[in-house]
Amino acid sequence: MTYQSSVDQVVADRAPTATEPILRVSGLTVTLGGSAILHGVTFDVAATGVTALLGRNGVGKTTTVKSVLGLHPIGGVVSFAGTDLSTLPTHRIARLGIGYVPEDRAVFAGLTVEENLRLAEPARAAPRYDFVYELFPVLRERARQPAGTLSGGEQQMLALGRVLLGPARLLLIDEPTKGLSPKYAGQVALALGRIAQQVPILLVEQNLAVVRRMARDAVVLDMGRVVHTGDARDLLADPSLTNRLLGVSAAPVHSTTAKPAPAAAPAADLEAGAW
Ligand SMILES: Nc1ncnc2c1ncn2[C@@H]1O[C@H](COP(=O)(O)OP(=O)(O)OP(=O)(O)O)[C@@H](O)[C@H]1O
Ligand SMILES: [Mg+2]
Repeated sequence: MTYQSSVDQVVADRAPTATEPILRVSGLTVTLGGSAILHGVTFDVAATGVTALLGRNGVGKTTTVKSVLGLHPIGGVVSFAGTDLSTLPTHRIARLGIGYVPEDRAVFAGLTVEENLRLAEPARAAPRYDFVYELFPVLRERARQPAGTLSGGEQQMLALGRVLLGPARLLLIDEPTKGLSPKYAGQVALALGRIAQQVPILLVEQNLAVVRRMARDAVVLDMGRVVHTGDARDLLADPSLTNRLLGVSAAPVHSTTAKPAPAAAPAADLEAGAW
């Protein structure tokens, strides 16, 4: 590939899509335990690629994702491919093709890898074992092993494999690299990149190196409000903005528009090694 064609490819990969957003969240309000948690959250998720949902701890990222799934009573409107989800029960929302990988991974520790996958087989479609095993060969190798004996990274692969068996139209993935070694974080991030070529992802992620490699768009929450939306790499290339919105400095993006490296050392848990 020539230099120009590779540049063209990068530009094409990151160009805004002409299609309508797959998910529109508008004026989302949520109250939990008597406390207002979300105060009119509004953002779109593009129909292709990865949209990153960012923010410090406790700002409402998980609450937002769970609200899309109908797991909390909400105010406002959540619209998926033109269908209003606000009044639908969770099982109907899931059946529309919204896959969810929660923060704690939620695999059945006492069941084998194979049993975990079998329980996640879709009711009305052929399970895509080929795709899952091609992405995560370790799941086939460890098919007979109890999921609770897998490493954290392997459990994350199993959690992703479970939602990929069915015909997902949108994936909501909450902190998939949290607590993983750089090696596993890298493997999971590479898999997410491949998955995103097939299905759009709303990705909650605190590892900014992963965000930089994966995400086209970024939405930043603070105290239950959207405080920034825009191009993810532009955000991460701006140390003062990143520091103000996320409380960390991010290393520069390697592009012609990259800005100088930030003076402050990045927070270790957010920028551990290459991932
Ligand atoms: N069931 C609940 N009842 C009361 N408050 C809750 C409940 N769930 C979450 N909260 C509060 O809502 C706020 C947002 O929580 P949430 O889990 O959405 O944040 P988050 O951005 O995902 O944080 P983290 O980065 O730590 O995962 C927090 O202050 C949390 O304590
Ligand atoms: Mg969370």
